[in-house]
Amino acid sequence: MAGSGRITILDIKKKKLDGEKQVWITAYDFFTARHLDRAGVDGLLVGDSLNMVFYGKPNTLSLTLNQSLYHTEAVARAAEHAIVIGDMPFLTYQQSIAEAIANAGRYLKEAGAQGVKLEGGIEMADTVSRLTEIGIPVMGHVGLTPQSIHRFGGYRVQGKDDSSKSYLMESAEALQAAGCFAIVLEAMKPSVAAEITEKLTIPTIGIGAGASVDGQIIVINDIMGLDDSFEAKYVRKYFNLADKIREVGERFVADVKTGDYPSKKETY
Ligand code: KIV
Repeated sequence: MAGSGRITILDIKKKKLDGEKQVWITAYDFFTARHLDRAGVDGLLVGDSLNMVFYGKPNTLSLTLNQSLYHTEAVARAAEHAIVIGDMPFLTYQQSIAEAIANAGRYLKEAGAQGVKLEGGIEMADTVSRLTEIGIPVMGHVGLTPQSIHRFGGYRVQGKDDSSKSYLMESAEALQAAGCFAIVLEAMKPSVAAEITEKLTIPTIGIGAGASVDGQIIVINDIMGLDDSFEAKYVRKYFNLADKIREVGERFVADVKTGDYPSKKETY
Protein backbone atom coordinates (compact mmCIF):
# COMPACT_ATOMS: atom_id res chain seq x y z
CA MET A 1 0.00 0.00 0.00
CA ALA A 2 1.33 3.46 -0.88
CA GLY A 3 2.15 6.21 1.64
CA SER A 4 -0.80 7.36 3.71
CA GLY A 5 -2.53 4.00 4.15
CA ARG A 6 -5.05 4.82 1.43
CA ILE A 7 -5.14 2.26 -1.39
CA THR A 8 -4.34 3.85 -4.75
CA ILE A 9 -4.71 2.67 -8.32
CA LEU A 10 -1.02 1.69 -8.20
CA ASP A 11 -1.74 -0.70 -5.30
CA ILE A 12 -4.74 -2.08 -7.18
CA LYS A 13 -2.59 -2.79 -10.24
CA LYS A 14 0.25 -4.24 -8.15
CA LYS A 15 -2.05 -6.76 -6.49
CA LYS A 16 -2.38 -8.50 -9.85
CA LEU A 17 1.39 -8.70 -10.25
CA ASP A 18 1.65 -10.04 -6.67
CA GLY A 19 -1.09 -12.60 -7.35
CA GLU A 20 -3.20 -11.18 -4.51
CA LYS A 21 -6.98 -11.51 -4.89
CA GLN A 22 -8.70 -8.20 -4.35
CA VAL A 23 -12.06 -7.49 -2.83
CA TRP A 24 -14.52 -4.82 -3.87
CA ILE A 25 -17.96 -4.19 -2.40
CA THR A 26 -20.51 -1.54 -3.26
CA ALA A 27 -21.53 1.01 -0.65
CA TYR A 28 -23.97 3.89 -0.77
CA ASP A 29 -23.92 5.43 2.71
CA PHE A 30 -21.42 6.62 5.33
CA PHE A 31 -21.71 3.94 8.02
CA THR A 32 -21.86 0.94 5.70
CA ALA A 33 -18.79 2.30 3.95
CA ARG A 34 -17.01 2.81 7.28
CA HIS A 35 -17.70 -0.77 8.43
CA LEU A 36 -16.64 -2.28 5.09
CA ASP A 37 -13.52 -0.13 5.05
CA ARG A 38 -12.64 -1.40 8.53
CA ALA A 39 -13.38 -4.95 7.40
CA GLY A 40 -10.47 -4.63 4.98
CA VAL A 41 -12.05 -4.33 1.54
CA ASP A 42 -9.69 -2.96 -1.11
CA GLY A 43 -12.24 -0.97 -3.09
CA LEU A 44 -15.62 0.60 -2.46
CA LEU A 45 -17.74 1.23 -5.53
CA VAL A 46 -20.68 3.58 -5.29
CA GLY A 47 -22.42 1.61 -8.01
CA ASP A 48 -25.30 2.87 -10.07
CA SER A 49 -27.02 -0.20 -8.62
CA LEU A 50 -27.83 2.51 -6.05
CA ASN A 51 -30.91 3.21 -8.17
CA MET A 52 -32.19 -0.34 -7.68
CA VAL A 53 -31.03 -1.43 -4.24
CA PHE A 54 -31.36 1.91 -2.43
CA TYR A 55 -34.07 3.75 -4.37
CA GLY A 56 -36.06 0.63 -5.35
CA LYS A 57 -36.15 1.38 -9.10
CA PRO A 58 -36.46 -1.46 -11.65
CA ASN A 59 -33.11 -0.72 -13.36
CA THR A 60 -30.16 1.68 -13.22
CA LEU A 61 -31.20 3.98 -16.06
CA SER A 62 -32.93 6.82 -14.22
CA LEU A 63 -30.18 7.51 -11.66
CA THR A 64 -29.02 11.13 -11.88
CA LEU A 65 -25.51 12.49 -11.61
CA ASN A 66 -26.43 14.48 -8.50
CA GLN A 67 -27.86 11.41 -6.74
CA SER A 68 -24.69 9.47 -7.51
CA LEU A 69 -22.42 12.32 -6.36
CA TYR A 70 -24.40 12.74 -3.14
CA HIS A 71 -23.89 9.10 -2.13
CA THR A 72 -20.28 9.02 -3.37
CA GLU A 73 -19.41 11.97 -1.11
CA ALA A 74 -20.76 10.12 1.96
CA VAL A 75 -18.82 6.95 1.11
CA ALA A 76 -15.59 8.80 0.32
CA ARG A 77 -15.81 10.67 3.65
CA ALA A 78 -16.15 7.36 5.52
CA ALA A 79 -13.33 5.43 3.86
CA GLU A 80 -9.85 5.75 5.33
CA HIS A 81 -8.23 2.79 3.58
CA ALA A 82 -10.19 1.53 0.56
CA ILE A 83 -10.08 3.25 -2.81
CA VAL A 84 -13.47 4.85 -3.58
CA ILE A 85 -14.81 4.85 -7.12
CA GLY A 86 -17.97 6.62 -8.33
CA ASP A 87 -20.05 4.88 -10.99
CA MET A 88 -21.17 7.30 -13.70
CA PRO A 89 -24.90 7.05 -14.46
CA PHE A 90 -26.43 6.42 -17.88
CA LEU A 91 -26.05 9.39 -20.27
CA THR A 92 -23.58 11.30 -18.12
CA TYR A 93 -20.55 10.25 -20.22
CA GLN A 94 -21.79 8.85 -23.55
CA GLN A 95 -22.85 12.02 -25.38
CA SER A 96 -19.45 13.71 -25.76
CA ILE A 97 -15.95 13.54 -24.35
CA ALA A 98 -16.34 17.10 -23.06
CA GLU A 99 -19.42 16.11 -21.07
CA ALA A 100 -17.69 12.99 -19.76
CA ILE A 101 -14.75 15.10 -18.53
CA ALA A 102 -17.00 17.68 -16.85
CA ASN A 103 -19.09 15.03 -15.11
CA ALA A 104 -16.25 12.66 -14.20
CA GLY A 105 -14.30 15.57 -12.77
CA ARG A 106 -17.09 16.25 -10.28
CA TYR A 107 -16.50 12.86 -8.63
CA LEU A 108 -12.94 13.93 -7.79
CA LYS A 109 -13.56 17.64 -7.13
CA GLU A 110 -16.85 17.52 -5.24
CA ALA A 111 -17.33 13.97 -3.98
CA GLY A 112 -13.77 13.07 -2.97
CA ALA A 113 -13.62 9.85 -5.05
CA GLN A 114 -10.31 8.54 -6.39
CA GLY A 115 -11.74 7.67 -9.80
CA VAL A 116 -14.81 6.77 -11.83
CA LYS A 117 -16.24 3.66 -13.42
CA LEU A 118 -18.03 3.68 -16.72
CA GLU A 119 -19.71 0.97 -18.76
CA GLY A 120 -18.89 -0.02 -22.30
CA GLY A 121 -16.21 -1.61 -24.43
CA ILE A 122 -14.09 -0.55 -27.37
CA GLU A 123 -16.59 2.22 -28.22
CA MET A 124 -15.66 3.99 -24.97
CA ALA A 125 -11.87 3.80 -25.51
CA ASP A 126 -11.43 7.41 -26.72
CA THR A 127 -13.37 8.74 -23.72
CA VAL A 128 -11.33 6.62 -21.31
CA SER A 129 -8.13 7.75 -22.98
CA ARG A 130 -8.98 11.44 -22.56
CA LEU A 131 -10.14 11.04 -18.94
CA THR A 132 -7.00 9.18 -17.92
CA GLU A 133 -4.77 11.63 -19.83
CA ILE A 134 -6.09 14.52 -17.75
CA GLY A 135 -5.70 12.63 -14.47
CA ILE A 136 -9.05 10.95 -13.84
CA PRO A 137 -8.54 7.23 -13.10
CA VAL A 138 -11.08 5.03 -14.87
CA MET A 139 -12.33 1.56 -14.09
CA GLY A 140 -13.86 -0.17 -17.12
CA HIS A 141 -16.91 -2.44 -17.13
CA VAL A 142 -17.75 -5.01 -19.80
CA GLY A 143 -19.98 -8.06 -20.06
CA LEU A 144 -23.49 -7.59 -18.85
CA THR A 145 -23.50 -3.81 -18.61
CA PRO A 146 -26.85 -2.97 -16.98
CA GLN A 147 -27.13 0.46 -18.66
CA SER A 148 -27.58 -1.49 -21.94
CA ILE A 149 -30.32 -3.70 -20.53
CA HIS A 150 -32.74 -2.84 -23.33
CA ARG A 151 -30.16 -3.68 -26.01
CA PHE A 152 -29.48 -7.05 -24.37
CA GLY A 153 -33.21 -7.70 -23.92
CA GLY A 154 -32.69 -8.68 -20.26
CA TYR A 155 -30.00 -9.55 -17.74
CA ARG A 156 -28.24 -12.20 -19.84
CA VAL A 157 -24.83 -13.82 -19.47
CA GLN A 158 -22.45 -12.45 -22.14
CA GLY A 159 -19.69 -14.11 -24.16
CA LYS A 160 -21.69 -17.16 -25.14
CA ASP A 161 -21.13 -16.95 -28.91
CA ASP A 162 -18.06 -16.15 -31.01
CA SER A 163 -19.04 -12.57 -31.89
CA SER A 164 -19.88 -11.71 -28.29
CA LYS A 165 -16.61 -13.30 -27.14
CA SER A 166 -14.53 -11.38 -29.73
CA TYR A 167 -16.22 -8.11 -28.76
CA LEU A 168 -15.41 -8.73 -25.09
CA MET A 169 -11.78 -9.68 -25.76
CA GLU A 170 -11.20 -6.70 -28.08
CA SER A 171 -12.95 -4.37 -25.67
CA ALA A 172 -10.95 -5.44 -22.65
CA GLU A 173 -7.69 -4.92 -24.56
CA ALA A 174 -8.84 -1.54 -25.91
CA LEU A 175 -9.84 -0.35 -22.42
CA GLN A 176 -6.48 -1.41 -21.03
CA ALA A 177 -4.67 0.40 -23.87
CA ALA A 178 -6.81 3.49 -23.19
CA GLY A 179 -5.57 3.60 -19.59
CA CYS A 180 -8.14 1.83 -17.37
CA PHE A 181 -6.57 0.78 -14.07
CA ALA A 182 -8.94 -2.21 -13.71
CA ILE A 183 -11.97 -3.69 -15.47
CA VAL A 184 -15.18 -5.13 -14.05
CA LEU A 185 -16.28 -8.31 -15.85
CA GLU A 186 -19.98 -8.83 -15.16
CA ALA A 187 -22.11 -11.91 -15.89
CA MET A 188 -19.75 -13.39 -18.40
CA LYS A 189 -18.96 -16.96 -19.37
CA PRO A 190 -16.21 -17.93 -16.87
CA SER A 191 -13.94 -19.28 -19.63
CA VAL A 192 -14.06 -15.89 -21.42
CA ALA A 193 -13.38 -14.03 -18.14
CA ALA A 194 -10.41 -16.37 -17.55
CA GLU A 195 -9.01 -15.65 -21.02
CA ILE A 196 -9.36 -11.89 -20.58
CA THR A 197 -7.71 -12.11 -17.15
CA GLU A 198 -4.80 -14.06 -18.62
CA LYS A 199 -4.33 -11.58 -21.45
CA LEU A 200 -4.50 -8.33 -19.49
CA THR A 201 -1.85 -6.81 -17.25
CA ILE A 202 -4.47 -4.77 -15.34
CA PRO A 203 -6.72 -6.54 -12.82
CA THR A 204 -10.10 -7.97 -13.74
CA ILE A 205 -12.76 -7.72 -11.05
CA GLY A 206 -15.55 -10.24 -11.57
CA ILE A 207 -19.19 -10.46 -10.62
CA GLY A 208 -20.89 -13.58 -11.89
CA ALA A 209 -17.80 -14.26 -14.03
CA GLY A 210 -16.33 -17.25 -12.23
CA ALA A 211 -13.24 -17.71 -10.10
CA SER A 212 -10.43 -17.11 -12.60
CA VAL A 213 -10.41 -13.33 -12.25
CA ASP A 214 -8.14 -11.10 -10.18
CA GLY A 215 -10.78 -10.05 -7.68
CA GLN A 216 -14.48 -10.09 -6.91
CA ILE A 217 -17.04 -7.34 -6.52
CA ILE A 218 -20.47 -7.73 -4.99
CA VAL A 219 -23.44 -5.54 -4.11
CA ILE A 220 -23.54 -5.11 -0.33
CA ASN A 221 -27.36 -5.27 -0.13
CA ASP A 222 -27.32 -8.66 -1.88
CA ILE A 223 -24.89 -10.31 0.54
CA MET A 224 -26.72 -8.75 3.51
CA GLY A 225 -30.04 -10.16 2.28
CA LEU A 226 -31.92 -6.85 2.36
CA ASP A 227 -34.15 -7.60 -0.63
CA ASP A 228 -35.70 -10.98 0.12
CA SER A 229 -37.10 -11.23 -3.41
CA PHE A 230 -33.66 -11.03 -5.09
CA GLU A 231 -31.81 -14.24 -5.95
CA ALA A 232 -28.80 -14.74 -8.23
CA LYS A 233 -26.54 -17.77 -8.67
CA TYR A 234 -23.41 -15.78 -7.82
CA VAL A 235 -24.84 -14.18 -4.64
CA ARG A 236 -23.97 -15.76 -1.29
CA LYS A 237 -26.31 -14.38 1.37
CA TYR A 238 -24.32 -13.94 4.58
CA PHE A 239 -27.25 -12.54 6.55
CA ASN A 240 -30.99 -12.09 6.37
CA LEU A 241 -31.30 -8.35 6.95
CA ALA A 242 -34.87 -8.29 5.62
CA ASP A 243 -36.04 -10.60 8.43
CA LYS A 244 -33.96 -8.77 11.04
CA ILE A 245 -35.40 -5.36 10.15
CA ARG A 246 -38.94 -6.79 10.20
CA GLU A 247 -38.25 -8.43 13.58
CA VAL A 248 -36.92 -5.21 15.12
CA GLY A 249 -39.90 -3.31 13.70
CA GLU A 250 -42.36 -5.86 15.16
CA ARG A 251 -40.66 -5.78 18.55
CA PHE A 252 -40.74 -1.99 18.71
CA VAL A 253 -44.40 -1.92 17.63
CA ALA A 254 -45.21 -4.42 20.39
CA ASP A 255 -43.20 -2.56 23.04
CA VAL A 256 -44.89 0.77 22.30
CA LYS A 257 -48.38 -0.75 22.15
CA THR A 258 -48.00 -2.61 25.43
CA GLY A 259 -46.47 0.42 27.16
CA ASP A 260 -43.18 -1.40 27.71
CA TYR A 261 -41.40 1.39 25.79
CA PRO A 262 -40.33 3.89 26.95
CA SER A 263 -39.15 2.36 30.19
CA LYS A 264 -40.71 3.87 33.31
CA LYS A 265 -37.22 4.07 34.81
CA GLU A 266 -35.90 6.40 32.09
CA THR A 267 -35.40 9.96 33.30
CA TYR A 268 -34.77 12.97 31.04
O1 KIV B 1 -23.56 -0.67 -10.09
C1 KIV B 1 -22.93 -1.61 -9.58
O2 KIV B 1 -23.12 -1.97 -8.41
C2 KIV B 1 -21.94 -2.28 -10.40
C3 KIV B 1 -21.29 -3.50 -9.86
C4 KIV B 1 -22.24 -4.62 -9.79
C5 KIV B 1 -20.08 -3.86 -10.61
O3 KIV B 1 -21.69 -1.84 -11.48
